[in-house]
Amino acid sequence: MTKKTTTNTIYTYTKPLETINKTYTYRKTSLFINFAIMKSTKKTAKPFIKWAGGKTQLINDIDSKISSKIHTYIEPFVGGGALLFYLLNNYPNLKKVVINDINTDLINTYKTIKNNVEELISLLQEWQNEYYNILENEEQKKEYYYQKRTLFNKRISNKTTQSALFIFLNKTCFNGLYRVNRKNEFNVPIGSYKKPLICDAENLQTVHLALKKVEILNGDFEQTLPYAEKKTLFYFDPPYKPLSETSSFNSYAKDEFNDDEQIRLANFCKKIDSLGYDWILSNSDVKGKNPNDDFFDDLFKDFQINRVLAKRSINANTNKRGQLTELLITNRKKEYAEVI
Ligand SMILES: C[S@@+](CC[C@H](N)C(=O)[O-])C[C@H]1O[C@@H](n2cnc3c(N)ncnc32)[C@H](O)[C@@H]1O
Repeated sequence: MTKKTTTNTIYTYTKPLETINKTYTYRKTSLFINFAIMKSTKKTAKPFIKWAGGKTQLINDIDSKISSKIHTYIEPFVGGGALLFYLLNNYPNLKKVVINDINTDLINTYKTIKNNVEELISLLQEWQNEYYNILENEEQKKEYYYQKRTLFNKRISNKTTQSALFIFLNKTCFNGLYRVNRKNEFNVPIGSYKKPLICDAENLQTVHLALKKVEILNGDFEQTLPYAEKKTLFYFDPPYKPLSETSSFNSYAKDEFNDDEQIRLANFCKKIDSLGYDWILSNSDVKGKNPNDDFFDDLFKDFQINRVLAKRSINANTNKRGQLTELLITNRKKEYAEVI
């Protein structure tokens, strides 16, 4: 894939080209085009939700490890998609992009943005107006939030409404957390944002355009294997192994991603390595916390393990926010050896 030199790749014209042509009919065709480009606003797709473990901080480190020859990009734990959108914005020549996540509510929302963005935007706009009208009244605001949360948890609405509820809750809940109980009920309380942007219509439309070339799957990470072709890169960003019993956030879904799951993922990485595909994986650096903890160093001893600085942003206790090292592991031994 060829990387673009600028970060913006998606163009949205402020006026349709035909309108511009009609208004300026005395100009030459080439000038119409120049004018249209001048009037265009370059747009960059960005994550449409806040999601624990967002990779914005690590993007440059990960990008430095990506081979320019990749044709297919697969992200089996897509979450908020920080790296996905970065690549869609910066590598327009990618032939095939596949994303997956086990969280059905999240994946339905990706699909709604891809297939039904206008209806989604109008629902969110309506709810944003209603919410802004009661911003000053704490009781009414709470009632409104918990009604939406109850409706979301019933999971009886059509897919577009369910997706709008998912975004509404993400924008208005405590710290933008996603947490469900054993019954898969979202149980995060209302947040304290003064005037949250619930309907970012411009970004939703840009994401809609960016998702056109993306295949969207819902299920376990192993189901992505058949989508790999020659020159495929997998990027794995699984739920991180907790650094301690209490410190980490790891419940994106009702089933826990425990040590056995981390081992299953490491075995999957070995398998795709033997099939000749590239992969990069990020995870917490448990050794940084306990120098005797060789869990990942042992699991990935045949691959290149890099330690990079990264800042975690979702942590209920703000005093605990700070710089930690994280792991970036890859099977691309030679090409990337000098990078970190
Ligand atoms: C750390 S988050 C990904 C963060 C994301 N890369 C971002 O930038 O926001 C991990 C994701 O893995 C998903 N997940 C958990 N278990 C999974 C499994 N067995 N297969 C696929 N996805 C899984 C969770 O739903 C969650 O969205």
